[in-house]
Amino acid sequence: MNTLGSGLKIIGSGTAIADQSLTNQDLSNIVETSDEWIQSRTGMRQRYICSANENLASLGVKAGQKALAMAGLQPDDLDLIILATSTPDDLFGSAAQIQGGLGATRAFAFDVTAACSGFVVGLNVAAQFLRTGVYQRVLLVGGDVLSRWVDWSDRTTCVLFGDGAGAVVLQRQAQDNLLAFEMYTDGSGNGCLNLPYQAVPQPLTAGKTVAQGTYQPITMNGREVYRFAVAKVPEIIEKVLFKAELTTADLDWVILHQANQRIMDAVGDRLAIPLEKMISNVGNYGNTSAASIPLALDQAVREGKIKEGDLIALAGFGAGLTWAASVVRW
Ligand code: ACO
Repeated sequence: MNTLGSGLKIIGSGTAIADQSLTNQDLSNIVETSDEWIQSRTGMRQRYICSANENLASLGVKAGQKALAMAGLQPDDLDLIILATSTPDDLFGSAAQIQGGLGATRAFAFDVTAACSGFVVGLNVAAQFLRTGVYQRVLLVGGDVLSRWVDWSDRTTCVLFGDGAGAVVLQRQAQDNLLAFEMYTDGSGNGCLNLPYQAVPQPLTAGKTVAQGTYQPITMNGREVYRFAVAKVPEIIEKVLFKAELTTADLDWVILHQANQRIMDAVGDRLAIPLEKMISNVGNYGNTSAASIPLALDQAVREGKIKEGDLIALAGFGAGLTWAASVVRW
C-alpha cells in the first residue's frame, strides 16, 4: 500500500504558443473589422495561430517538456497523461502522440473533450486517480488549434480564437491542494456553440448508405454565450468556495477561461473581486479554448505573481454547454 497520502499538488507548469502571431490589423485585411471593434468588445489585440509546421501534439509536447522541467521530473516519471482538447490531430485521440513525443513510456494517455472547460475538467479527472493512489504523477495538457475550424470569412467568430497549449504536472502527496471542485453540463444550450459533424449520405450498396461528411466550422450565438458565462461563472465560483469553506476574500487569484475581457470583468464585478486579482492574458493570446487557463496560470507563475501557498480559483466554461471550477493552493 502506498503511503504518500490521498492529496495532490501542482508541481510544474509550462506552455507552448503557436508559431504565427495574428494581430487585429491582420484580421482587418481578412474580414470587415477593426482593431477598435475587436479591442472594445473582447480586449484582444493579437492571438497566435499554427502554421502547417505545427500541430496540437507538437504544442502539447513542448508545453509538457516545460512543465516537467519545472517539476524536476523526467518523462518516465509520469503514470498518466490527460489531454484536454476539442481539436485533436487524430479523431482517435492525440494524447498518445504526446506520450510518444515526450517518450513517457510508462504513462497511459487519453483525451478529454470538454471544449473551453476541458482543462478544469481534466484537473478534476486527474485528481481522482491521484487521490485513490492509483497513480502518483499525472501530466495534464490543455490545448486547442481552433484556427483549423474557424470560418475565416465569418467576422463574428474568426476574430476571437487563437491556438496554444498549456500543461501542468500533478503529484500525489499527503495534503490535498485541490480544495474543491464543481462541474455542470446543460445540454439544452448545446446549440449555442458548435463544431458539428455534418453527415452526407452516400450510397454504399443496395439499400445501405454511409454518412461520410466532414466537420463544419464553429458556429456561435455570441450573445447567448455571453449571458450564460456571466450568469453561471460567478455562481459556480461561489459554490466551489462554499464547498472549500472559503470566501472570495480568501482568494489570491482568479483565473477564468480567457474567452473575453468583458466576461472576465463582469464576473469579477459580480463577485466583487478586485481587478488586480483577476489574471488576464486574453489581449495577447485571444481565446485558446482548453489552453487558456494553463497559459494564464503558467505565465503568472513564471512572472512571480503566483507564489507558494497562494489560493487560486480556476473556472472554465464553454461548449456543451459545460462549466467547471476548482480551488487550488499553489
Ligand atoms: N468586427 C466588426 N463588426 C462586427 C464583428 C467584427 N469582428 N463581429 C460582429 N460585428 C457586428 C455585428 O455584425 C453587429 O452588427 P449589426 O448591429 O449591424 O448587426 C454588431 O457588430 C454587433 O454584434 P453583436 O454580436 O451584437 O456584438 P456583441 O456586442 O454581442 O459582441 C461578441 C460580440 C464579442 C462575440 C460577444 O457576444 C461575446 O463576447 N460573446 C461571448 C462569446 C465567447 O466568449 N465565446 C466563446 C466562449 S466559449 C469558448 O471559449 C469556446
